[in-house]
Amino acid sequence: MRTEAPVAVHLSDYAPFPFQIDQVNLEFDLDPDATRVKATLAIRRSGAADAGLTLDGQGLKLMKIAIDGAPLDPSAYTVEEERLVIPSVPDAFTLTTEVEIAPAKNTALSGLYMSGGRFCTQCEAVGFRRITYYPDRPDVMSAFHVRMSADKKKYPILLSNGTPGESGDEKGGRHFATWDDPHKKPSYLFALCAGDYDVYRDRFTTMNGDEIALAIHVDKGDAERAAWAMDSLKRSMKWDEEVYGRAYDLGVFNIVAVRDFNFGAMENKGLNVFNSAYVLADEATATDADFEAIESIVAHEYFHNWTGNRITCRDWFQLCLKEGLTVFRDQNFSADMRSRPVQRIKDVIRLRARQFAEDAGPLAHSVRPDTYASIDNLYTATVYEKGAEIIGMLRRMIGEEQYRKGMDLYFERHDGEAVTIEDFYKCFEDVTGEDFAAFRRWYAQAGTPEVTVAETWNPDTNEIEITLSQKTAPTPGQPDKKAVPIPLQMALVDGEGNLAEWMTLLEDEDVTLTMELPEGTGRPLVSVNRDFSAPVRLKRDLTRDQRLALVRAETDPFNKWDGVQSLVKEEILALSEGSQAEPDSALVDALGGAVEQAAGDPAYAALLTRLPDVGELFLERQPADAVALNAARRKLQTALAARLGPFIAETLGKPTPTPYDPGAEQAGVRALRTALIVLLGVAKEPSAPAMLERLYSEATNMTEQIAALRALCVQGGGAATAPLAKFEVEWKSNPLVMDKWFAVQASTGTAETVAKLAAHPAFDLLNPNRVRSVVATFAMQNLAAFHAPDGSGYRAVETIVLSADKANPALGARLLTAFEQWRVLEPKAKAAAEATLKRLQAADLSPNSADIVARALG
Ligand code: BES
Ligand code: ZN
Repeated sequence: MRTEAPVAVHLSDYAPFPFQIDQVNLEFDLDPDATRVKATLAIRRSGAADAGLTLDGQGLKLMKIAIDGAPLDPSAYTVEEERLVIPSVPDAFTLTTEVEIAPAKNTALSGLYMSGGRFCTQCEAVGFRRITYYPDRPDVMSAFHVRMSADKKKYPILLSNGTPGESGDEKGGRHFATWDDPHKKPSYLFALCAGDYDVYRDRFTTMNGDEIALAIHVDKGDAERAAWAMDSLKRSMKWDEEVYGRAYDLGVFNIVAVRDFNFGAMENKGLNVFNSAYVLADEATATDADFEAIESIVAHEYFHNWTGNRITCRDWFQLCLKEGLTVFRDQNFSADMRSRPVQRIKDVIRLRARQFAEDAGPLAHSVRPDTYASIDNLYTATVYEKGAEIIGMLRRMIGEEQYRKGMDLYFERHDGEAVTIEDFYKCFEDVTGEDFAAFRRWYAQAGTPEVTVAETWNPDTNEIEITLSQKTAPTPGQPDKKAVPIPLQMALVDGEGNLAEWMTLLEDEDVTLTMELPEGTGRPLVSVNRDFSAPVRLKRDLTRDQRLALVRAETDPFNKWDGVQSLVKEEILALSEGSQAEPDSALVDALGGAVEQAAGDPAYAALLTRLPDVGELFLERQPADAVALNAARRKLQTALAARLGPFIAETLGKPTPTPYDPGAEQAGVRALRTALIVLLGVAKEPSAPAMLERLYSEATNMTEQIAALRALCVQGGGAATAPLAKFEVEWKSNPLVMDKWFAVQASTGTAETVAKLAAHPAFDLLNPNRVRSVVATFAMQNLAAFHAPDGSGYRAVETIVLSADKANPALGARLLTAFEQWRVLEPKAKAAAEATLKRLQAADLSPNSADIVARALG
């Protein structure tokens, strides 16, 4: 049976809700199998005099309904599949509804559900309608009062948004608690959590002198592992005060960690709910990457308090208003906590891997789309990562000071409102006096602009002429593209330093700059898009030697790294196309030398050893052959491992820093160590497996332990068998660590490995982390196996996704995005991918997944 794609929603259809909801009172009688939710809404007409009341609701059993205390006659309302309609209502009234829901049966993890025997909620984007009848849209903001009751023994801690009020015992072994949130908020920010937790507590004093009680709620026995998340939270609070002048606005701030969660974390007002993977960490169970992710996600959700909660989105088309801006904020927080250039490089790696790929495929859409079929599918790399890049460009163009003034005006003007991208830009127009209409094209136009750089040098006049031109390829539904304003940070360098540094705003299709240099300077090198000032793809016709010269002369750390990336990219492509049999030894030597020279900044050196991922190479030459690209990449990596042999032995021969500290300095040292462990994984030296086994068994932290285990898997030849078995025995009771065990194998194995992992007793189709650790890891980090020309990789994924999707559509749909690159593949993989997508299209998929498949095939 084929599921019909749901009806599309259009931005142009926006109409305000015709009523205000002044106050919401919710009463929960919590029970896993039958929870009663009584909602009392104070409603006032604000729109047309004849407008009826339509409320969203999904999977609710309506038990009672009354207006101003009088039960409604069944003829006065209709209950549809996804809404409740009362055609005729007074201008001001109180609506009371009572519904029954079954949290224990909720496997979609949207609305009220159970995780690890505890109650929790996830309402963004449209989960509140699974809890009660309500205008479940972000522009309806109201004050919430919550009362909940539950079995006292099973659920001793009862949490919701805002600040706690009365609490006490009830008959039958139950107890109750009330919570008040004085800040008006949309329903998507509602949260409720109830259960038995261990709590890690701390305090924070705001810049206004307010004392905030901070608490992180975790599984029993896990409290100490919340220390880093708490530390990150306090640093985030301080940073938002110092950098944006924004303080926290409630007396308590709670975080709850849950094991079963569809996303990373959620910014519910005063009660953030986190995937436990982004809360729990210690040296024995978490990697530096985990610590880093926790720091940035805790910051991200905290920063939403101002960019998202106090000022929210008018409708879901404006999602980037809160997400792009908040990602931009968390990236800058991380840059301030660690190394700014290293953070920039990591952000760009992520942008290229995820967003550029999305922009180049059938799922391409603009940062603010004007239509969607399923809102869950709008939480994309484009909305998030490209959305953040646009804010970065804005700040670059107007400068720090004007940016801060514009933000101040935004907070002041729109506090308590649900607004649009236009409202946001109006603040910057008012502050700068500039017009951002052309710049706002970045929000409407999909696709990654390609900027071509051409230069000519005239030795007679000592003039250099630089021509920059832009072009964006067509994307689905957008055949013709306009020029967008592209701020390009530029410099002329000559090996001694910068001869000139400036910013060019490429506003039209092309621009030519002519610069005269002092006599005797010689031909300078042109450094373009420094610090990755704009999210574009550069096209430059340079020889290997020219690229090498530019890398040597570069003064911008991002561009130095990126110059190396472009060199190795060209090399891998040449190797994969057979135009070259072996890696160029001069290049490998230069690369090895660069790594050795950067050893004083180990985090940066680690990034220099990184070769572009196979998926990133798909963008360069099409049709793309994942198997050939992977083999070529491996060849270059192996050559680099050989070149760096003595350096690897020396660096890894030293003890790792102790005692463990998750901070940037030590993490940098470990980043280089693990980068070298990666190289050992592909090293042909006979001593490599033994060295890896030693590193594995002597590891004092998870960062190096898991890196060594993975490298052993890559080495193959049974080297990993015993360590994998040992690891499983050691960690079988820790689900987050077991996720790593699954992921290591999925990222290095074959389709057969995936089938074996899916049959493992610890594989759990209902746990998103576990499913992702196998399926997403395989499909997104093991491209040669996923895109195997015989279609085996696709079949392995298809089988699991079909089952996962039934229980959890958001999860199923997210996994299916792995197929987004299918059109660019070599003929065999392409045909197998298409056949898989067609089978999926004919299967009984959720609307979310059907939307992804339909657009992928589009
Ligand atoms: N508001 C989102 C959570 C969310 C995601 C709700 C998708 C509904 C659908 C939250 O602020 C968020 O963006 N979380 C990210 C992590 C963040 C650091 C980018 C996530 O969960 O992946
Ligand atoms: Zn967010």
